[in-house]
Amino acid sequence: MVWIEFVTPSGDVRRVEASEGESLMQAAVRHQVEGIEAACGGSMSCGTCHAWISEPWSAALPQPEEGERSILDFGVHIRPQSRLTCQIQVSAALDGARIEVPPSQS
Ligand code: FES
Repeated sequence: MVWIEFVTPSGDVRRVEASEGESLMQAAVRHQVEGIEAACGGSMSCGTCHAWISEPWSAALPQPEEGERSILDFGVHIRPQSRLTCQIQVSAALDGARIEVPPSQS
């Protein structure tokens, strides 16, 4: 199991267990993390799974592909560490990662 820490738009810190191979979005939805709506179910068309991945975990991730970048281009509260959590696969390298959900998703 991999432990992920989500900081919700309300400022609550939720430490949740995630399984290797699932997406960060799936882990967040399973644990009902506030602000990760994931309206499209992970088909990369809604942007409601947007979150900021803290360093050093953000820099260690593969760069977003063109489709993910296109969705983020239309988002709000976009930062360099913005990602669609449906596109990030959980691995042991993410253990302890801190993920912040933007206030626009409260
Ligand atoms: S869940 Fe819709 S873009 Fe990620």
